Amino acid sequence: MKKLLIYGASYPDIVNLIDAINQDSPEWDVVGVIDDVSTQEDFLGYPILGGHEVLQQRSYGDCVVANNVFSRPSARRQVADRIAEYGHRAASLIHPSVTLRRVKLGEGVVMMEGVKIGAGSVVGNFVAARYNAIINHDNQIGNFAFLGPSVTLCGHVTVGDGAYIGAGAVVRERLQIGVDAMVAMGAVVVSPVADRTTVMGNPARPRELVR
Ligand SMILES: CC(C)(COP(=O)(O)OP(=O)(O)OC[C@H]1O[C@@H](n2cnc3c(N)ncnc32)[C@H](O)[C@@H]1OP(=O)(O)O)[C@@H](O)C(=O)NCCC(=O)NCCS
Repeated sequence: MKKLLIYGASYPDIVNLIDAINQDSPEWDVVGVIDDVSTQEDFLGYPILGGHEVLQQRSYGDCVVANNVFSRPSARRQVADRIAEYGHRAASLIHPSVTLRRVKLGEGVVMMEGVKIGAGSVVGNFVAARYNAIINHDNQIGNFAFLGPSVTLCGHVTVGDGAYIGAGAVVRERLQIGVDAMVAMGAVVVSPVADRTTVMGNPARPRELVR
Protein backbone atom coordinates (compact mmCIF):
# COMPACT_ATOMS: atom_id res chain seq x y z
CA MET A 1 0.00 0.00 0.00
CA LYS A 2 1.11 3.57 -0.63
CA LYS A 3 1.31 6.05 2.22
CA LEU A 4 -1.16 8.91 1.85
CA LEU A 5 -1.43 12.29 3.55
CA ILE A 6 -4.77 14.08 3.22
CA TYR A 7 -4.40 17.87 2.83
CA GLY A 8 -7.51 19.62 4.12
CA ALA A 9 -9.85 18.65 6.95
CA SER A 10 -13.06 20.29 5.76
CA TYR A 11 -14.43 17.71 3.32
CA PRO A 12 -15.19 14.40 5.06
CA ASP A 13 -16.30 12.59 1.89
CA ILE A 14 -12.70 11.86 1.00
CA VAL A 15 -12.55 9.24 3.72
CA ASN A 16 -15.48 7.33 2.19
CA LEU A 17 -13.87 7.67 -1.22
CA ILE A 18 -10.59 6.19 0.03
CA ASP A 19 -12.48 3.38 1.79
CA ALA A 20 -14.31 2.56 -1.46
CA ILE A 21 -11.04 2.48 -3.42
CA ASN A 22 -9.36 0.30 -0.78
CA GLN A 23 -12.30 -2.09 -0.70
CA ASP A 24 -11.70 -3.08 -4.31
CA SER A 25 -7.97 -3.55 -3.84
CA PRO A 26 -6.03 -2.04 -0.91
CA GLU A 27 -4.11 0.92 -2.33
CA TRP A 28 -3.87 3.72 0.25
CA ASP A 29 -2.58 3.68 3.81
CA VAL A 30 -3.67 7.00 5.32
CA VAL A 31 -0.91 8.33 7.58
CA GLY A 32 -2.74 11.46 8.70
CA VAL A 33 -4.17 14.82 7.77
CA ILE A 34 -2.65 18.25 7.18
CA ASP A 35 -4.68 21.37 7.80
CA ASP A 36 -3.46 24.94 8.14
CA VAL A 37 -6.31 26.19 10.32
CA SER A 38 -7.93 23.28 12.14
CA THR A 39 -7.55 23.15 15.91
CA GLN A 40 -8.91 19.59 16.06
CA GLU A 41 -6.63 16.64 16.78
CA ASP A 42 -8.48 14.21 14.60
CA PHE A 43 -10.33 14.05 11.29
CA LEU A 44 -12.72 11.10 11.13
CA GLY A 45 -10.33 8.86 12.98
CA TYR A 46 -7.13 10.09 11.34
CA PRO A 47 -4.70 12.32 13.28
CA ILE A 48 -4.28 15.95 12.23
CA LEU A 49 -0.51 16.25 12.07
CA GLY A 50 -0.15 20.02 11.58
CA GLY A 51 -0.10 22.57 8.79
CA HIS A 52 1.86 22.69 5.53
CA GLU A 53 5.17 22.48 7.43
CA VAL A 54 4.45 18.76 7.70
CA LEU A 55 5.08 18.50 3.95
CA GLN A 56 8.36 20.37 4.29
CA GLN A 57 9.65 18.28 7.21
CA ARG A 58 8.92 15.02 5.42
CA SER A 59 8.79 13.35 8.84
CA TYR A 60 6.29 10.84 7.51
CA GLY A 61 8.57 9.62 4.77
CA ASP A 62 7.70 9.42 1.13
CA CYS A 63 3.97 10.06 1.06
CA VAL A 64 1.61 10.83 -1.79
CA VAL A 65 -0.70 13.75 -0.95
CA ALA A 66 -4.45 13.95 -1.56
CA ASN A 67 -5.56 17.54 -2.20
CA ASN A 68 -8.81 17.70 -0.25
CA VAL A 69 -9.51 21.42 -0.69
CA PHE A 70 -12.48 22.29 -2.91
CA SER A 71 -13.81 25.60 -1.57
CA ARG A 72 -12.52 27.58 -4.56
CA PRO A 73 -10.32 26.55 -7.49
CA SER A 74 -7.75 29.17 -6.35
CA ALA A 75 -7.54 27.55 -2.89
CA ARG A 76 -7.15 24.12 -4.51
CA ARG A 77 -4.38 25.53 -6.70
CA GLN A 78 -2.55 26.93 -3.66
CA VAL A 79 -2.49 23.50 -2.04
CA ALA A 80 -1.38 21.87 -5.31
CA ASP A 81 1.50 24.38 -5.49
CA ARG A 82 2.56 23.48 -1.95
CA ILE A 83 2.49 19.76 -2.71
CA ALA A 84 4.75 20.35 -5.73
CA GLU A 85 6.99 22.88 -3.94
CA TYR A 86 7.91 20.31 -1.28
CA GLY A 87 8.52 17.63 -3.87
CA HIS A 88 5.55 15.37 -3.21
CA ARG A 89 3.32 13.64 -5.71
CA ALA A 90 -0.40 14.32 -5.76
CA ALA A 91 -2.86 11.43 -5.62
CA SER A 92 -5.68 10.99 -8.08
CA LEU A 93 -8.67 9.47 -6.31
CA ILE A 94 -11.28 7.97 -8.60
CA HIS A 95 -14.29 6.15 -7.19
CA PRO A 96 -14.42 2.53 -8.42
CA SER A 97 -17.88 3.17 -9.93
CA VAL A 98 -16.27 5.48 -12.51
CA THR A 99 -15.29 3.92 -15.83
CA LEU A 100 -12.38 5.59 -17.59
CA ARG A 101 -12.16 4.41 -21.18
CA ARG A 102 -10.50 6.52 -23.84
CA VAL A 103 -10.22 9.34 -21.36
CA LYS A 104 -7.05 11.31 -20.58
CA LEU A 105 -6.58 12.19 -16.95
CA GLY A 106 -4.18 14.65 -15.33
CA GLU A 107 -2.72 14.31 -11.86
CA GLY A 108 -4.49 15.08 -8.58
CA VAL A 109 -7.95 14.48 -10.05
CA VAL A 110 -10.82 13.58 -7.72
CA MET A 111 -13.95 11.88 -9.04
CA MET A 112 -16.72 10.97 -6.66
CA GLU A 113 -19.21 8.10 -6.88
CA GLY A 114 -21.47 8.10 -9.90
CA VAL A 115 -19.40 10.31 -12.20
CA LYS A 116 -19.84 9.32 -15.85
CA ILE A 117 -17.28 10.33 -18.40
CA GLY A 118 -17.41 9.72 -22.14
CA ALA A 119 -14.72 8.75 -24.64
CA GLY A 120 -12.46 11.44 -25.98
CA SER A 121 -12.67 13.62 -22.88
CA VAL A 122 -9.50 15.17 -21.49
CA VAL A 123 -9.39 16.05 -17.80
CA GLY A 124 -6.73 18.45 -16.55
CA ASN A 125 -4.73 18.42 -13.33
CA PHE A 126 -6.58 18.73 -10.01
CA VAL A 127 -10.01 18.70 -11.59
CA ALA A 128 -12.73 17.81 -9.08
CA ALA A 129 -15.94 16.13 -10.24
CA ARG A 130 -18.47 15.68 -7.46
CA TYR A 131 -21.19 13.03 -7.15
CA ASN A 132 -22.99 12.06 -10.37
CA ALA A 133 -21.40 14.69 -12.61
CA ILE A 134 -21.92 13.71 -16.24
CA ILE A 135 -19.07 14.55 -18.56
CA ASN A 136 -20.25 13.41 -21.96
CA HIS A 137 -17.85 12.59 -24.78
CA ASP A 138 -15.07 14.84 -26.12
CA ASN A 139 -15.04 17.46 -23.37
CA GLN A 140 -11.86 19.31 -22.43
CA ILE A 141 -11.68 20.23 -18.78
CA GLY A 142 -8.97 22.64 -17.70
CA ASN A 143 -6.71 22.41 -14.67
CA PHE A 144 -8.37 23.07 -11.31
CA ALA A 145 -11.86 23.18 -12.80
CA PHE A 146 -14.64 22.16 -10.40
CA LEU A 147 -17.77 20.29 -11.49
CA GLY A 148 -20.44 20.25 -8.78
CA PRO A 149 -22.80 17.35 -8.07
CA SER A 150 -24.98 16.35 -11.05
CA VAL A 151 -23.46 18.83 -13.49
CA THR A 152 -23.98 17.82 -17.12
CA LEU A 153 -21.55 18.75 -19.90
CA CYS A 154 -23.30 17.74 -23.12
CA GLY A 155 -20.21 17.00 -25.22
CA HIS A 156 -17.40 18.91 -26.96
CA VAL A 157 -17.55 21.43 -24.11
CA THR A 158 -14.35 23.25 -23.15
CA VAL A 159 -14.06 24.25 -19.53
CA GLY A 160 -11.33 26.79 -18.79
CA ASP A 161 -8.71 26.47 -16.07
CA GLY A 162 -10.13 27.28 -12.65
CA ALA A 163 -13.76 27.44 -13.78
CA TYR A 164 -16.40 26.50 -11.20
CA ILE A 165 -19.61 24.85 -12.38
CA GLY A 166 -22.23 24.73 -9.65
CA ALA A 167 -24.46 21.80 -8.73
CA GLY A 168 -26.94 20.67 -11.35
CA ALA A 169 -25.84 23.10 -14.06
CA VAL A 170 -26.20 21.94 -17.66
CA VAL A 171 -23.92 23.10 -20.45
CA ARG A 172 -25.01 22.73 -24.05
CA GLU A 173 -22.66 20.95 -26.42
CA ARG A 174 -19.71 22.71 -28.12
CA LEU A 175 -19.66 25.69 -25.77
CA GLN A 176 -16.68 27.24 -24.06
CA ILE A 177 -16.69 28.09 -20.36
CA GLY A 178 -13.99 30.69 -19.71
CA VAL A 179 -11.00 30.63 -17.40
CA ASP A 180 -12.02 31.24 -13.76
CA ALA A 181 -15.67 31.57 -14.81
CA MET A 182 -18.47 30.71 -12.38
CA VAL A 183 -21.63 28.92 -13.48
CA ALA A 184 -24.26 29.11 -10.71
CA MET A 185 -26.13 26.07 -9.43
CA GLY A 186 -28.91 24.97 -11.73
CA ALA A 187 -27.91 27.24 -14.61
CA VAL A 188 -28.70 26.16 -18.15
CA VAL A 189 -25.84 27.40 -20.28
CA VAL A 190 -26.75 27.91 -23.94
CA SER A 191 -24.06 30.40 -24.98
CA PRO A 192 -20.31 30.72 -24.30
CA VAL A 193 -19.23 32.11 -20.93
CA ALA A 194 -16.40 34.65 -20.96
CA ASP A 195 -13.34 34.38 -18.69
CA ARG A 196 -13.93 35.43 -15.07
CA THR A 197 -17.65 35.88 -15.63
CA THR A 198 -20.49 34.59 -13.44
CA VAL A 199 -23.62 33.34 -15.16
CA MET A 200 -26.88 32.12 -13.66
CA GLY A 201 -30.43 31.17 -14.53
CA ASN A 202 -32.17 29.52 -17.47
CA PRO A 203 -31.02 30.55 -19.98
CA ALA A 204 -27.84 31.50 -18.12
CA ARG A 205 -27.00 35.20 -18.23
CA PRO A 206 -23.99 37.09 -16.86
CA ARG A 207 -24.51 38.68 -13.49
CA GLU A 208 -22.05 40.81 -11.50
CA LEU A 209 -21.94 39.76 -7.88
CA VAL A 210 -20.59 41.97 -5.11
CA ARG A 211 -18.04 39.94 -3.18
C1 LIG B 1 -23.58 31.78 -7.86
C2 LIG B 1 -23.28 31.75 -6.40
C3 LIG B 1 -21.78 31.55 -6.16
C4 LIG B 1 -23.73 33.06 -5.80
O1 LIG B 1 -23.48 33.05 -4.44
P1 LIG B 1 -23.46 34.44 -3.62
O2 LIG B 1 -22.37 35.31 -4.15
O3 LIG B 1 -23.43 34.06 -2.16
O4 LIG B 1 -24.80 35.13 -4.05
P2 LIG B 1 -26.15 35.36 -3.22
O5 LIG B 1 -26.65 34.08 -2.64
O6 LIG B 1 -25.93 36.53 -2.32
O7 LIG B 1 -27.14 35.78 -4.39
C5 LIG B 1 -26.92 36.94 -5.16
C6 LIG B 1 -28.04 37.02 -6.15
O8 LIG B 1 -27.92 35.95 -7.09
C7 LIG B 1 -29.10 35.13 -7.07
N1 LIG B 1 -28.65 33.75 -7.20
C8 LIG B 1 -27.74 33.11 -6.45
N2 LIG B 1 -27.56 31.86 -6.91
C9 LIG B 1 -28.37 31.72 -7.97
C10 LIG B 1 -28.61 30.64 -8.84
N3 LIG B 1 -27.99 29.48 -8.70
N4 LIG B 1 -29.48 30.84 -9.85
C11 LIG B 1 -30.12 32.02 -9.98
N5 LIG B 1 -29.93 33.09 -9.17
C12 LIG B 1 -29.06 32.93 -8.17
C13 LIG B 1 -29.74 35.39 -5.71
O9 LIG B 1 -31.12 35.12 -5.75
C14 LIG B 1 -29.43 36.85 -5.53
O10 LIG B 1 -30.32 37.59 -6.33
P3 LIG B 1 -30.91 39.03 -5.86
O11 LIG B 1 -29.71 39.89 -5.60
O12 LIG B 1 -31.70 39.47 -7.04
O13 LIG B 1 -31.69 38.75 -4.63
C15 LIG B 1 -24.01 30.57 -5.67
O14 LIG B 1 -25.41 30.79 -5.62
C16 LIG B 1 -23.78 29.23 -6.33
O15 LIG B 1 -24.43 28.84 -7.30
N6 LIG B 1 -22.81 28.47 -5.76
C17 LIG B 1 -22.47 27.14 -6.21
C18 LIG B 1 -22.82 26.14 -5.10
C19 LIG B 1 -22.48 24.74 -5.49
O16 LIG B 1 -22.81 24.27 -6.54
N7 LIG B 1 -21.78 24.05 -4.62
C20 LIG B 1 -21.35 22.71 -4.88
C21 LIG B 1 -20.93 22.06 -3.60
S1 LIG B 1 -20.26 20.44 -3.87
